[in-house]
Amino acid sequence: METHFKAVKITDEVYWVGAIDWLIRDFHGYATGRGSTYNAYLIMAEDITLIDTVKAPFRDEMMGRIASVVDPKKIKIIVSNHSEMDHSGCLPEVIDDIRPEKVYSSVMGEKTLVDHFHERIAGKVIPVKDGEAVSLGNMKLVFAETRMLHWPDSMIAFLPERSLLFSQDAFGMHLASFERFDDQIDQSILDYEAGKYYANIIMPYANLVTKLLERVPATGWDIKLVAPDHGPVWRSKIPWILERYARWASGVPENRAVVVYDTMWQSTARMARAIGEGLSAGGTETKIMPMAAHHRSDVVTEILAAGALVVGSPTLNNNIFPTLADLMVYMKGLKPKGLVGAAFGSYGWSGESVAHLNGLLSEMKVDLVGEGIKVKNVPTGDDLAGCFSLGRKTSDILKGKTK
Ligand code: FEO
Repeated sequence: METHFKAVKITDEVYWVGAIDWLIRDFHGYATGRGSTYNAYLIMAEDITLIDTVKAPFRDEMMGRIASVVDPKKIKIIVSNHSEMDHSGCLPEVIDDIRPEKVYSSVMGEKTLVDHFHERIAGKVIPVKDGEAVSLGNMKLVFAETRMLHWPDSMIAFLPERSLLFSQDAFGMHLASFERFDDQIDQSILDYEAGKYYANIIMPYANLVTKLLERVPATGWDIKLVAPDHGPVWRSKIPWILERYARWASGVPENRAVVVYDTMWQSTARMARAIGEGLSAGGTETKIMPMAAHHRSDVVTEILAAGALVVGSPTLNNNIFPTLADLMVYMKGLKPKGLVGAAFGSYGWSGESVAHLNGLLSEMKVDLVGEGIKVKNVPTGDDLAGCFSLGRKTSDILKGKTK
């Protein structure tokens, strides 16, 4: 047992006993530049309870933090709110080690855990239904299914005696830090990392976020703490993060644009800059993002707060550039809403890239402002003036939608 790991008190009888991953930089395709935490929580109720576990290589860290409060073998209940491996990777070993009396998950979670761990966990998990409560002796946990937020098995758990919501992945962020609470972290970091997390993990399920935010007041839960499975615990800024989620989920466009492109010989880059100038001249806050300088997950983060998406690619072997193909597939899966947009690019022979991009943007339900612009080889001054006009037109249309 590693004894230098310590638990952090969240509130009376509740401790953070998770792990800090200072190294992770790629979370299934999402660039986690600030690392992450895998949060687990210990409730020192009469029936001592562990909420979630951690990624498999971090089991010793979690067990060390638990041991700083209590002998882990005294844990009677384990709750698995979500079976993704960053929270369940060490669950079978932890169950074998602790031998709790009960392990709870959602109905779907029981099946998903078996799909992951097969005979190592089969028969060991008790499913709980939406709205069901389980006793911890002197306290209780109330569960609510949050299917597809962001896995089919996801659920959240409320501890009424401490007004504490264990929100699982919802309201989380990838941020490695020793600071455990929202008010201990710089606001600009909260702003960026909460948005990045929403854009890259939660965005496809915006309608479900809206339903959840509508449902929570109806539960009568008096929530004073929100403890997610990644990043800080919310204690001072709960209204702020709820308002953020409501705004992001609404998909109401803002007067901001992202121009994203890749280039072979700088022709598409010059077009991007001219389009950006046009957007900016129209009064739209604009970011130009060359794929050579930005990760796909950073582009999507900017899209979250944008109302316009303009995409440029040269034609390479009758198709779009590979970096744009990567981005478009990733972005389409995340289902950004309410965007206007256009395509552009240079070509040497056949020039299919703009048509391909128009098709991909249409599949994403982006409202195209026109057929886009393609330029043979190197743009002339007139071509760049046309790009400027495309930017200006996009800005005008966007402003019409954001009034
Ligand atoms: Fe943090 Fe969906 O796992």
